[in-house]
Amino acid sequence: MAQNFQDKTSKISAVASWVPDYILNNDELSKMVDTSDEWITTRTGIKERRILKDPLLATSDMGANAVNELLKKRGIAPDEIDLIICATVTPDMLFPATACLIAEKVGAKNAFGFDLSAACSAFLFALDCGDKYIVSGQYKKIVVVGADKMSSIVDYTDRKTCVIFGDGAGAVLLEPGECKDVGIQDSILKVDGAGGEYLKMVAGGSLNPATIDTVKMGQHYIYQDGKTVFKFAVTKMADVSEEIMKKNNLKGEDISWLVPHQANLRIIDATAKRMNVDQSKVMVNIHKYGNTTAATIPICLSEWESRLKKDQNLILAAFGGGFTWGAIYLKWAY
Ligand code: COA
Repeated sequence: MAQNFQDKTSKISAVASWVPDYILNNDELSKMVDTSDEWITTRTGIKERRILKDPLLATSDMGANAVNELLKKRGIAPDEIDLIICATVTPDMLFPATACLIAEKVGAKNAFGFDLSAACSAFLFALDCGDKYIVSGQYKKIVVVGADKMSSIVDYTDRKTCVIFGDGAGAVLLEPGECKDVGIQDSILKVDGAGGEYLKMVAGGSLNPATIDTVKMGQHYIYQDGKTVFKFAVTKMADVSEEIMKKNNLKGEDISWLVPHQANLRIIDATAKRMNVDQSKVMVNIHKYGNTTAATIPICLSEWESRLKKDQNLILAAFGGGFTWGAIYLKWAY
């Protein structure tokens, strides 16, 4: 059992993602609700999003697809996984945890698992959690999944929310780093529960269990006060990114890649500007997928994987419902 965490790290040793084939673009969405490609593009940067159309498929199926791809890429068997942490705000059901369903679907017979709820920051919180299990010496192979079927909680008559969200999944494998200069170096994670009222799903939990009235009132859909969320997100994501850079003596030119949560292009741009990171070093795919909540960051890592190089400095940053936000600094391992 390891006692000294100080010189130990975990590293991302593989990354994979999976998104549904069906593309809902802004023009198609404009036929469903009173909006336009011009409005959505200028306010958010989003052009299209993926939707999981098959009603028999859920978050665990997208997560399992990403994990299967991950295992194939790393060349390991499912029974080698010690732990699956599933970051999601759209679990298949309240229980069992989606992590259990993914474990079953991929055949991870020796793993335990649990879900982590922190909305759009959940992947970062889960990655940090996985990191701590690795550096403690207790586990050697941890799969961190970010997966959300946002279309299952979006009201497609509400133009203030339906334009933003999409479905998708991403996964990374965490393993022990060889030395302290490889892998996850630092994290700063925060919550402010006072922000809870601005971005939430009102019903379906123990406070407002499902009734005919909660359904009639549309309380099983996302509620968002977009303006307030924007104001907090644009400040907090930049603040925490700047904080982790200062803490680790990093300047803009030291950052190889900023991997931001994809909620709004204007929030991403403001964060990069505050960090003094050039746009060419910022991973942006919001135009293709919209906001896939817990999946945005691993999908980005997966799409940029071929351009990542060993020892590059990455800052991962997110903001989400809760409010929750945070940043992780890591050195790419391969
Ligand atoms: N198409 C056309 N018009 C729309 C629209 C749409 N899809 N959505 C809202 N509008 C209208 C509103 O009705 C309002 O009209 P009014 O002035 O006549 O009442 C006007 O546009 C402005 O609405 P508002 O909600 O103030 O827009 P906004 O500039 O704040 O942009 C968001 C809306 C959602 C894009 C923006 O608030 C945002 O990105 N917020 C943060 C979202 C986020 O990051 N969420 C996830 C956190 S992880």
